[in-house]
Amino acid sequence: MVQATPLLLVLSLALVAPSLSKEKCVLTGRWMNDLGSNMTIGALNGKGEFAGSYLTAVTATTNEIRVSPLQGSQQRTNGKSQPTFGFTVNWSFSDTTTVFTGQCFVDKDGKEILKTMWLLRSNVDFIKDDWKATRVGTNTFHRL
Ligand code: BTN
Repeated sequence: MVQATPLLLVLSLALVAPSLSKEKCVLTGRWMNDLGSNMTIGALNGKGEFAGSYLTAVTATTNEIRVSPLQGSQQRTNGKSQPTFGFTVNWSFSDTTTVFTGQCFVDKDGKEILKTMWLLRSNVDFIKDDWKATRVGTNTFHRL
C-alpha cells in the first residue's frame, strides 16, 4: 500500500515550489517608461491600494507639464509573483485623465518591468466630438 505521508509531502511541495522559485515583482518604488516619464508608487495598503505621483515627459496639450497624482490598486496575488494592476492619473496641468492597466513582470535577468496599456481621455466641448476624444497606447516601465 502507498504511504500517505510521503505522497502528501510530494504533492504539497509540487504546489508550493513554483511560487517559492519565482522572484516577486513589487510595484512600490520609482519607475521610468519608454517615453522618459517618471513615476513614483507608494506603499500598498492591506487592500492592495496605492497612491503616487507621475511626471510625464510628453503632453498632448500646450500646457506646462507638472507632477500629477495617481491612484490605483493591485490585484490579489494569490501566491502569484507577477501581479496585475491599474491606476488613474488625474493630470494637474490639463483637463485630461489617463488610466493605465498592466502587469508587473520579472524578466529573464531578474529585472522588474511593468507592461502597461493606457487610455488618455481628452475633454471635448461637444458630444459630436466624443469619437476623437480617446487616445490609446502602451508603455513599458523599468525600475530606477
Ligand atoms: C495631457 O497631455 O493632457 C496629460 C499628459 C498625458 C501624458 C500621456 S499619458 C500616456 C503616455 N504615457 C506617458 O508617460 N505620457 C503619455
